[in-house]
Amino acid sequence: MPTPTASPPLLFASGETTQPEQTDSERLARSQRISATSALFSPSAVAKIWGVARGALDRASPPTEMPEYTPPGSSSYSYTAADFWTSGFFPGSLYLLLERAKVYPGHFPIEKLHVEKLRYACRWWSENLHVQAHRTDTHDLGFMILLPFQKDYELTGDRRSLDTLVTAANSLASRFEPRVGLIRSWDTCCTKRYAFEDPKADFLVIIDNMLNLNLLYWVSAQTGDLRLSSIATTHAENSLKHHIRHPQWSTVHVVNFDQETGAVKEKLTNQGYADDSTWSRGQAWGILGFAQCYAWTRKQAFLDAAINLGEYFVSRLDDGDGVPHWDFDAPRPTYRDTSAAMIAVCGFLCIYEATPEVRFLSHALRILDATLKMSLAPPARFRDDGSDAVDLGSGGDTILLNATINNHEFAPRRWADHGLVYADYFFLEVGNRLLGLGLV
Ligand code: GLY
Repeated sequence: MPTPTASPPLLFASGETTQPEQTDSERLARSQRISATSALFSPSAVAKIWGVARGALDRASPPTEMPEYTPPGSSSYSYTAADFWTSGFFPGSLYLLLERAKVYPGHFPIEKLHVEKLRYACRWWSENLHVQAHRTDTHDLGFMILLPFQKDYELTGDRRSLDTLVTAANSLASRFEPRVGLIRSWDTCCTKRYAFEDPKADFLVIIDNMLNLNLLYWVSAQTGDLRLSSIATTHAENSLKHHIRHPQWSTVHVVNFDQETGAVKEKLTNQGYADDSTWSRGQAWGILGFAQCYAWTRKQAFLDAAINLGEYFVSRLDDGDGVPHWDFDAPRPTYRDTSAAMIAVCGFLCIYEATPEVRFLSHALRILDATLKMSLAPPARFRDDGSDAVDLGSGGDTILLNATINNHEFAPRRWADHGLVYADYFFLEVGNRLLGLGLV
């Protein structure tokens, strides 16, 4: 275990203090932190989420489609059905705001948005996700179910949310194959280059799957069902074995196994530049996923993996501006991915919480500052008329710009350089993690 660094500084502060012995670079770092604070906890960030949410509150029935991304050239969200893997992020974002309003009210514009109204919106937007918990045809239940309902249960004690989480964890566990030692990610997968259409013939596991393990650990901790945590740990151990390239600690996106023998058949990409390249969001999923597994298990190998994946991520921020390209190996110039940036920042904060070594906080801050500088959309604002109405303004529906869903040449859905619901979700989570760490 690395030696903890003494007295973690209060890195985010709301005002200047007199520090005459600061060098120019210290002053610059400090001013970046203050600008990060004002963006992370600005009324504009809340107004963006609320401006999208409130439009659905007067409808006769709760939403069945969820915000996903703002198509390039548009500033308004495109919506996808509630069975899509991203459906938990918008309700999850509302719950992150509810957490902020209830637990850290000093960092929430309470005078603009009443907590009870926000809680109503959280429930309204997540209502049609409960039913998704029964699905056994997807591994994405961590994203879809854990994000809204863990917060709902923790903030309100709602029993139905706990039941939904338990159902979802068992649905996810049903995809575990003991002969392979992994949870199946996708039943099928087709691009313009390959087609896996028979789940009996192919067993596809992606690095992203690491993020869904939190659902198993959390439900295991609530219920005492150790089968769930044991599946999660076995999956993480085998993903560590198969999704990581050595000695550099870059990640493979997709591994296809023989489900009878557990042998690796091939290693591929679905969303990166090439099979042997490093898709930056996949790398970021790895950092955060292994750091979370360490938090649950205290297995040193998981922390070492998170750190090594993180150092590789930082070593590939090669334009000097700290914002990852969508794939570290894609020919330049090319698009960025601010969702990878925000997921990696969360990963570094999780590593910092575990170690706590200031170097990981520095990595997080560097990526955060750079992303805010490059990709913060023009602000939204609450109207001054005493209502909770919002002017979204020219910046549109999302807090961040410059995300990339998938720029793989052979992708059936190819989108780059747009706003994205999970870039904003992890932006809000960064704020809550910093509050939780007592650094603000
Ligand atoms: N988990 C799918 C993605 O990151 O795009």
